Amino acid sequence: MEKKVIKTGPGQAVRRGKAALLVAFLALLAAGALSIPFFYESQTLWYKVGYDKTLLRGGQLAGLVAAMSLFVQMLLGVRGSFLEEIFGVVRLLRWHRTNGLILFAFGFLHVTLVLSAEELTSLINMKSWPELIGALMLTVIFAMVISGLFRRQIGLAYAGWRLMHRVLAYTVPVLLAIHVLFVSDSFAHGLPMAGLLTVLGALAVAILRIKRLARLQER
Ligand code: HEM
Ligand code: HEM
Repeated sequence: MEKKVIKTGPGQAVRRGKAALLVAFLALLAAGALSIPFFYESQTLWYKVGYDKTLLRGGQLAGLVAAMSLFVQMLLGVRGSFLEEIFGVVRLLRWHRTNGLILFAFGFLHVTLVLSAEELTSLINMKSWPELIGALMLTVIFAMVISGLFRRQIGLAYAGWRLMHRVLAYTVPVLLAIHVLFVSDSFAHGLPMAGLLTVLGALAVAILRIKRLARLQER
């Protein structure tokens, strides 16, 4: 019987190593982010007890998972040669589609949990503008997911959809920064604020670099 030989050359080993490093880096980032509601308790948590406290903390954690999914979603969308070499374009686009749904699901869970712990009526006034920015952000994400998954059924031409998708995509991280910095006192100063701004700054630099390289390759 002929033996099946699976070749795992140095290229594949390097790709696996890079993938492992990337996963370790993201896991570290996630652990740091998810520890914020415990190490930097918001004032809103101080006044909550029992079930309400659990709901609010759960809501904060869901919001942080949504924020991290957005970070990953942006990188999967712009791709870049580093990710393309490790995972390939097809896989990245498939993950982008699935991760978009995860992002929306955690955004929705965040709102549901936070609003279950807070008074619903207290959000419907202009003092709650940071929450309203959150609502705008969730609506934009929902519109992007629906138009991305059902573009043909809705009858959108690819070029028009792509332009709209891009404009909305770069608006969402800006809305996230405004929402988080003004809605949560945990992020009003110190390490959480510095961490959020560093992650968003690093994302902007990575995207600009990927775009510049793509433009140079097109020439
Ligand atoms: C789940 C539904 C979604 C689908 C099916 C989808 C699909 C796509 C596709 C096919 C592209 C590649 C466009 C091209 O290069 O021609 C793309 C790019 C992109 N998407 Fe999405 N997307 C979805 C949701 C989202 C969401 C929710 C965000 C972020 C809020 C997002 C952010 C991006 C970004 C940043 C790009 C790169 C844009 C650029 O090239 O400058 N996508 N998406
Ligand atoms: C209707 C929409 C939204 C509302 C009403 C809302 C409301 C809130 C409120 C009240 C807080 C502060 C919780 C507290 O500490 O007491 C908060 C924090 C936060 N929100 Fe939202 N939000 C919305 C959408 C979103 C979305 C779509 C995302 C992410 C994509 C998001 C990400 C976050 C994050 C990361 C925090 C900080 C969590 C922490 O304190 O550790 N929010 N939001």
